[in-house]
Amino acid sequence: MTDDKFLEKEELELDLLLAALHRLSGFDFRKYMRSSIMRRVQNRVRLEQLPNISRLTEEVINNEMLLQKLLDDFSINVTEMFRDPAFFKAFREKVVPELAEYPEIRIWHAGCSTGEEAYSMAILMEEEGLGEKVRIYATDMSEKVIRKAEKGSIPISKMKAYTTNYMLSGGKKSFSEYYSTDSECAYFDSKILRKIVFAQHNLVTDGSFNEFHIIICRNVLIYFNLELQKHVLQLFNASLADEGFLGIGSKESIRTEAYGHFEEFFFEEKIYRKMRA
Ligand SMILES: C[S@@+](CC[C@H](N)C(=O)[O-])C[C@H]1O[C@@H](n2cnc3c(N)ncnc32)[C@H](O)[C@@H]1O
Repeated sequence: MTDDKFLEKEELELDLLLAALHRLSGFDFRKYMRSSIMRRVQNRVRLEQLPNISRLTEEVINNEMLLQKLLDDFSINVTEMFRDPAFFKAFREKVVPELAEYPEIRIWHAGCSTGEEAYSMAILMEEEGLGEKVRIYATDMSEKVIRKAEKGSIPISKMKAYTTNYMLSGGKKSFSEYYSTDSECAYFDSKILRKIVFAQHNLVTDGSFNEFHIIICRNVLIYFNLELQKHVLQLFNASLADEGFLGIGSKESIRTEAYGHFEEFFFEEKIYRKMRA
C-alpha cells in the first residue's frame, strides 16, 4: 500500500472509531484537533499491542474498561494553581476594579480540570474583598476530575511551585493561610471551597446553564478545531451578561472579526469583554 493510501485508510478508521465512541459513551471528539486525537489513538493502539485502529474499535465496543482508558487518553488534565501568574495579576489589576459595583458575581470556569484554577480564583476574589459576592461554577467533561476537584486537596509536593505562582500573581498574604497539611496533602479551607460548585458539563454537547459575569476557559479551546471553537464561543456569548469578561489561555485566540460579540479588554493576557448588544 502506498503511504497516501495508508494515511487515507487510517483517517477512515479514525472516523469510525470516533463515531463508535460517540454512540457508546455520548462523548463526541469528532471536532477536536485531528492531529492530537490521532496521536493519542495511535499511542493506545501501540500500548494495547493491536495491529491497527479498526481492531481498537472492535475491542472498545466489547470492553468497557478499554473504552474508559481511551476517554481518559483524550482528557488532558494538566493544570496548576495560579497558572500563568501574569493572567491572574492582570485579572486583579484590570478586571477586579470593574466589578466593585456588582451586587453579585457569577464566574464560570469551563474545563476546570482538577480544580486548581477555581481555587485560585476563589482566593483572589476573597483577597480583593469580593468573597461574599462571588459564586464560582467550575465544570469539566470528565466526572473523574470533578470528583477530585471537590475534595480540595493537592499533593504537598506541588505546593512550593504553587506558592511561587501565587506570589507572582500578586497574592497579598502568606499562601499557607488558605490550607492545612498532613504528610501527603494540602487541604484547602472550607471558606475557599464553599464558594465553588463543581459539576460535569461538556462544552460540545451541553448548553448554557446560567448567566455569568465572567467566563474563564483556559487551555481548552486549543484542543478543538475551528468549527468547534466557534460553537463554544457562541455558547460563551449566550452565557455572558453584557460587558461580561472572557479569559482564555495564553496560546489561544479568538478572532473577533470572525466571531463578533467580543472586544479586546486586556489583550496581553487574553482577556476579552462582551460588547453591549
Ligand atoms: C489542560 S486542562 C486545562 C485546565 C485549566 N483550565 C487550566 O488552564 O489549568 C483541559 C481540560 O479541558 C477539559 N475538556 C476537554 N474537552 C472538554 C469539553 N468538551 N467540555 C468540557 N471540558 C473539556 C479536559 O477534561 C481537561 O480537564
